Amino acid sequence: MEVKLDRIRCEKLKEKIMSPEDAAKLINDGDFIGTSGFTPAGYPKAVPMALAKRVDQGERIQIDLMTGASVGPELDGLLSERGIIRRRYPYQTNSTLRNAINNDNVKYNDMHLSHSAQYLKYGFLGTMDIAIIEAVAITEEAGIVPSTSVGNSNIFIECAKKIIVEINTSQPIELEGVHDIYSPVNPPEREKININKASDRIGIPYIPCDMDKIAAIVITDIPDKASNVAAIDDVSRRMAENLIGFLESEVEMGRLPENLLPLQSGVGSVANAVLGGLCNSKFTDLNVYSEVLQDSVIDLMDCGKIKTASATSLTISPERMNDFKANFSKYKSHIILRPEEISNNPEIIRRLGVISMNTAIEADIYGHVNSTHIMGSKIMNGIGGSGDFTRNAYISIFTTASTARDGKISSIVPMVSHVDHTEHDVMVIVTENGVADLRGLSPKERAEKIIENCAHEDFKEMLWDYFKRAKEATNTSHSPHLLNEALSWHERYIKTGSMQKGH
Ligand code: COA
Repeated sequence: MEVKLDRIRCEKLKEKIMSPEDAAKLINDGDFIGTSGFTPAGYPKAVPMALAKRVDQGERIQIDLMTGASVGPELDGLLSERGIIRRRYPYQTNSTLRNAINNDNVKYNDMHLSHSAQYLKYGFLGTMDIAIIEAVAITEEAGIVPSTSVGNSNIFIECAKKIIVEINTSQPIELEGVHDIYSPVNPPEREKININKASDRIGIPYIPCDMDKIAAIVITDIPDKASNVAAIDDVSRRMAENLIGFLESEVEMGRLPENLLPLQSGVGSVANAVLGGLCNSKFTDLNVYSEVLQDSVIDLMDCGKIKTASATSLTISPERMNDFKANFSKYKSHIILRPEEISNNPEIIRRLGVISMNTAIEADIYGHVNSTHIMGSKIMNGIGGSGDFTRNAYISIFTTASTARDGKISSIVPMVSHVDHTEHDVMVIVTENGVADLRGLSPKERAEKIIENCAHEDFKEMLWDYFKRAKEATNTSHSPHLLNEALSWHERYIKTGSMQKGH
């Protein structure tokens, strides 16, 4: 690989260039490590791979790992496979790591992403030993220019004792200028964060860094390993149509402006279908204030619908990446990448009036949502930014297919098996069958809307029956439940492989 020294513009730092193997030797057993990366974008690859090699050669190394959010397989996958991760914050989506967490081999603290930076800054998590940060360049004054994500990198650079930088030459140097780095100071000195529009820039385009803390610089060209976006199936398309229909009716009623309010959407095929569907809608001049920008945002830019897309990560699928890089100048002026402490900041989300659109694993008849656990016990991914946005949104929306696992599971249940978002936060539930607008409704009114509009035909009768008997048994109290039966649907699935009775 050609070493592109022009990406290191601080002469003094060139002496810190070393191999990934030598840089990985700086890591000690028991270290608390922070890395760049948010979704499989902008995470370090070469040094984690070299660390795994040390373990392959017989060393015993365990670390506590904190990132921006989920990262790629060279980090979460490889290190959890080798038993290197002892503790993990704040979010993950890797199947090997997920199994290690569910087998209790990794201690996982699933956090609101907007909390993660301040947990570290307030000292709640102890002292960080090493930050490993992927960058596209280092400026003359040792400022670190992040690559496809910012995540918590600015905070790790501020808090860690030592820093290893991976300069990744596969990441376009044109990314320089996209970032807007701003770190709020701790209370009681903290001030208002001055973002009043999605397009406002309040910081600088690189992360300031104490040059003396940079212990190693590694040059690599390993690309981000984002996955291709799943094709939009019929159920996702219907959910997207229902959701867009709901937004249109809010505009007609004068409750949203013609160009909506800034949009946040999770990742995955429903999010992709919703944003993709906006391409064919009458909406124009849209703004995105989210945590991740994926392919569908590029489509919206291509069809001229987006003014600003602000997030903390740019996760472009491999099939679109070359085209995206080749045409980057066309997109650059529309994109801002911020630290996740800012992209997910409750103060800003509330001020901008963000419309949040996230995916639920299941929702119950009273509007509580489970985003994280399968059958109450096993973690899937984590809460990510869904709580940051839902709790502070202008309108908070959850989508879920009405059934899972080939129709054996109803995603609308009497009582969710784990609660991430409560009845107080969830305003609208959308399935492929329809929309339940829960705003202003009492629990029993919510139950009627959710069962009638959202549940699958195969489970509607069972849900009505449960609701009716719960009302009778509790003398129609505020939120009627049959406590010994509320979670029996999940028990039945675990025992028989279906939530249907008599299966
Ligand atoms: N009961 C049990 N399992 C269910 C289920 C239900 N009601 N609904 C879905 N599942 C299972 C699926 O079978 C699948 O399991 P598998 O991987 O073993 O096949 C898994 O959950 C994922 O479901 P899928 O339909 O593929 O959904 P997805 O990829 O769209 O992910 C979430 C859905 C909720 C897991 C995902 O959106 C998430 O992690 N959200 C929380 C974080 C978040 O919202 N981030 C965005 C904020 S910006």
